[in-house]
Amino acid sequence: MTAHAATSPSIGLASIGLSLPPLALPVEELAKLRGQDPQKYTLGLGCQEMALCPPDFGAVEMAVEAAKRALGRWDGDLGRIGMIVVGTESAVDMSRPLSAWVAEELGLRGAVRSYEVKHACYGGTVALRQALEWKLSGAAGDKAALVIATDVALYALSDPGEPTQGAGAVAMIVDQPDIAVIDPMSYPWSEPAFDFWRPVGESFPRVDGKFSLDCYKKAAENCFRAFVGDDDAQQKLSALAAICFHVPFPKMVKKAFLHVGESFGWDYELSNQIFSQKIDPNMGWNRQCGNAYTASLWMSVAEALAGLDEGQQITAFSYGSGFGAELLTLTAGPEAATGAWTADIEHDLANREHIDAAGYESLRDARLAASA
Ligand code: HMG
Repeated sequence: MTAHAATSPSIGLASIGLSLPPLALPVEELAKLRGQDPQKYTLGLGCQEMALCPPDFGAVEMAVEAAKRALGRWDGDLGRIGMIVVGTESAVDMSRPLSAWVAEELGLRGAVRSYEVKHACYGGTVALRQALEWKLSGAAGDKAALVIATDVALYALSDPGEPTQGAGAVAMIVDQPDIAVIDPMSYPWSEPAFDFWRPVGESFPRVDGKFSLDCYKKAAENCFRAFVGDDDAQQKLSALAAICFHVPFPKMVKKAFLHVGESFGWDYELSNQIFSQKIDPNMGWNRQCGNAYTASLWMSVAEALAGLDEGQQITAFSYGSGFGAELLTLTAGPEAATGAWTADIEHDLANREHIDAAGYESLRDARLAASA
């Protein structure tokens, strides 16, 4: 932990809840439809399955379910929630915040700050940082914040991003750090860019795919270099129990980490060894759900925290197109070892239905009709 963290009150994650939608498509099925070698998707991009939403289901439903699960295993009650903030790029209205839909379902009203944050996939992290800083400022008093990252990631049919689609939500209660302390010190990096964006009124993102990879790599390099500072990079990263990334597709994370390693003067073997030990094992849930935009990083963090001993430290690299990034550090609390929230993923994976190529085509048609 940094010297700064040692002098600040400890605030962090008191509870976590996750939610996945009820449908999934193996990427091999999409490869059939698009006439691609399935290995382009499985080996080239590192994808396995994409979580999909039926037409009447989406970011709100997943957010509500994740929030209920987080609240259900928290030892506080709804009356202690003084802030609900949702990070999303799947807004259902240009004015009314998605948090209002969630608050309505939860019965949350009164002396509560309620709003939505948008910054592509980085929005959930900004929401979490705001909740943390609200608590650290003293403005929260003894209230806790409910932070939710929720998204449905769909591309236009046959877009190169189509195999990376996904969906999911992560809810986090920011209060006493039973699961993890979030270090007040973090390492942001942003540059205005058009790498991935969705103009108002358009249903699907426009993407400059290759450029987006370069933006992500540049952001990762700058955030990790700031985190390491004058310390020994190998020692500092090897001391971490896990290194988590935003996961647009797993191969992106490997490319970015090799780039970070190069910037430290490491050879492929060293970067690959750290990747295999500290990064790859935290992307299991991401491989099952695809890119869940704002929720992707926090899925990975939730997976990494489950089973850690108190005091073990991890980092979380958040990236959102546009572009904005931030590297956070978290230290496991006494409840991390229980990994209670893994039950949410196990439940949703066990209960979801796998569809095939034909089912996917009908689903996209039905969603299109529902949104027309
Ligand atoms: P593409 O251009 O169709 O793919 O789409 P490609 O031709 O670059 O091939 C991909 C990889 O598969 C390559 O590996 C190929 O060699 C390999 P690489 O050389 O890069 O290591 N390959 C094969 N491997 C095995 N067997 C084969 C085979 N054929 C090819 N037969 C692209 C790739 C990433 C551009 C596309 O998926 C895309 O546009 N994705 C969306 C954008 C994205 O995810 N960008 C990531 C960074 S930006 C970000 O993270 C933000 C985001 O989450 C949004 C937000 O913030 O809200 C996206």
